[in-house]
Amino acid sequence: MLCKTALIGSVLTGTIAALAATTSPTVLDRADVDADTFGDACRTIAGKKWVAPKDVRACFTSISVSPKAKDNIIEVVDKTLAAFHTSRYYQKRAPQPFAAEVGVDLDSEFARMRRTRYSSEYEFHLDFSRTIKRLNDGHAGYINACYDSVYLTLVPTPLVLLTDKRGDQYVHIAPEAWDLVSSSFSDQIDVWQNALPGNLRGKLKSLSGAKVLKINGQDPFKVVNAHAQVAGAFQGVGARQNGFFASYRAANGGGFNYVPGEFAQKSLPLEDSVTLTIQRIDSSKTDTVTLPYRSLLATGQTWTDKASFRQNLCVAQPDTNGEDWYSRGFATESDPPESPLFKFQQQDKMKPEDRKKWAVNVAVDSTPLSTLKLPRGPVEPTPLLSYSIVQTFLLPDKKTGVLTLGSFTAGDVYGVMMAMLDGLTELRSLGATQLIVDVTNNGGGIICLGHWLHRILAGAKSTTEPQAGLDTILRAGPLVQRLVKAVNEGKDDSWMTAYHTSWYRFPNNTDVPENYNYLLPIDNRRINDERVEFSPRLIDRCQPFWVDMPTKPIFPTNKVAIVSNGRCASTCAMLSIAMSKQEGSKTVVVGGVDNVKQQYCGIVGGESTDFVAMDFSVKSLKMKNHPLAPPDFITNSMQGITFRLGLGIWNRHEPEEWQDHPADYQIPLTAETVNKPYAVWSEVAKTVFKR
Ligand SMILES: *[C@@H]1O[C@H](CO)[C@@H](O)[C@H](O)[C@H]1NC(C)=O
Repeated sequence: MLCKTALIGSVLTGTIAALAATTSPTVLDRADVDADTFGDACRTIAGKKWVAPKDVRACFTSISVSPKAKDNIIEVVDKTLAAFHTSRYYQKRAPQPFAAEVGVDLDSEFARMRRTRYSSEYEFHLDFSRTIKRLNDGHAGYINACYDSVYLTLVPTPLVLLTDKRGDQYVHIAPEAWDLVSSSFSDQIDVWQNALPGNLRGKLKSLSGAKVLKINGQDPFKVVNAHAQVAGAFQGVGARQNGFFASYRAANGGGFNYVPGEFAQKSLPLEDSVTLTIQRIDSSKTDTVTLPYRSLLATGQTWTDKASFRQNLCVAQPDTNGEDWYSRGFATESDPPESPLFKFQQQDKMKPEDRKKWAVNVAVDSTPLSTLKLPRGPVEPTPLLSYSIVQTFLLPDKKTGVLTLGSFTAGDVYGVMMAMLDGLTELRSLGATQLIVDVTNNGGGIICLGHWLHRILAGAKSTTEPQAGLDTILRAGPLVQRLVKAVNEGKDDSWMTAYHTSWYRFPNNTDVPENYNYLLPIDNRRINDERVEFSPRLIDRCQPFWVDMPTKPIFPTNKVAIVSNGRCASTCAMLSIAMSKQEGSKTVVVGGVDNVKQQYCGIVGGESTDFVAMDFSVKSLKMKNHPLAPPDFITNSMQGITFRLGLGIWNRHEPEEWQDHPADYQIPLTAETVNKPYAVWSEVAKTVFKR
């Protein structure tokens, strides 16, 4: 398999980082750091594992907004999204079917926020990060590690959406709530037990499974919808609603992680408590309970007071910005960088050296991947095969095989390729004739692993060879043209930047030669009254795979069902779309509000990356002084982008991102199936593979 040779990300590690820390012009003015430690709210919470959300807010809001930091954040993000992000101008007013879902004029939003006076930097962060979230694009995530997921703010009552025997949908406290809380948050249970009123005091367990009639006095569906308006991450409203609820994700190394959902787990200390009006299982009366949110420390960074909080968490850190590879004299064998955004990418761990080999397409979220364990049910089949991110199962019907994938990224890429092939071949040899691929909450990952799975599922044919994925285009505005010109002039002779020709291949399956300007002829698109320049179409460099593989499909592709909660993003989306549109596979969304159209995937993208990688390319190609180049962040901020945009399969000229992906089946969840993957798969097999 061909490997990408350029390095994505900054390159600061170890001693180099220490060197950069002393030389980088990143710290805020001394005057910005308030000197007083009297009543220091950050000192109050320092070193504590669990604290009240209001105490976290007291620390956050004690940091006054520096006009310099605010303008800097706006300028870096504005210029990054303007020069490099493929989707900025589409997102001003998205095409159908997403016209009602995505429409943010960032120019006027940035101008508004420049004018607005904020009482604290935290208040600005709320406004800024929500504005970026409204793009509903998980690739364009903005994170400020001074605030986002410093704490995870939790209540012990994750919610689920269940359909009863009459077909009516109600919000419930998750049936597994107590099992989760007693195993994962046992050191905080007393606080919640004691918060329960009167005869319910100490009986948190009895709330599991309860029907939720009101949330803070409101119809629960109203609360779900209000949340979907600010949740971000997916274009389709169904996927944003579904993120409110608890779900699971296949874990790396076997088993499943528990995803508490955005009601029960928040990346910011937004709320102090929630009041639920509930009807418990086997109870005919309603109870009203108020449970406190509690904030759980979730960063490895430490502080003792406000000054050290700011210094360690809020100002730019050594890896916040890119570096000029060629002026630092890096040894090429030095470990590639860990961009701080990697922590927020929704994929499993990658080896640092793989970062420069494998392009990824992956969602970013202000909450890192959950490490909670899905509470186990009483009857659990063991997987036939469990290797890294790959697990396979055979259902009791002996006809249905299951492959689970929580992301498309693994520490051992070739091992995972073999595990996919071996696992599927074994299922077939055991008599399975149909396959469920469970990609619930799969945020994407290595693009070529998606291509690989498509190729082995569908066999050798024109849709899988020489390339199995989408053709892509990248932005080609004046700054990018200068970067590629510099590459063509030999200014990237170590093949380090994102624009090096070695990353790119023409649609006729020949590699772009080193001195070739692959941006020409420029594809000028008119998008929402803006002229936006893109490259001609290019393809991924995944093949040949250099591995023996069957030429025939392992399962008939119309006997393959791709199953998720609609939150299948990026590489997961590209794979699902290719399997659905090109190979006739079935798509299934499990759960979801029943009068809402469920997209089987979202945020297709093409290849994603971040500000650090762009800054690394800009600096290494000596373009930092270009007027369109973003300056360095002076805060501990990060910005993701869609770097290459996948073009459509059916509508070939337009991005796949904005095309409709309605699920073939929407299967409701019940108290018996919710968050029980094995039960879900049997239900899917019955519904999809009947006849
Ligand atoms: C492939 O396409 C590129 C770009 O259009 C062209 O320059 C090149 O000559 C083509 N190569 C072959 C072998 O057709």
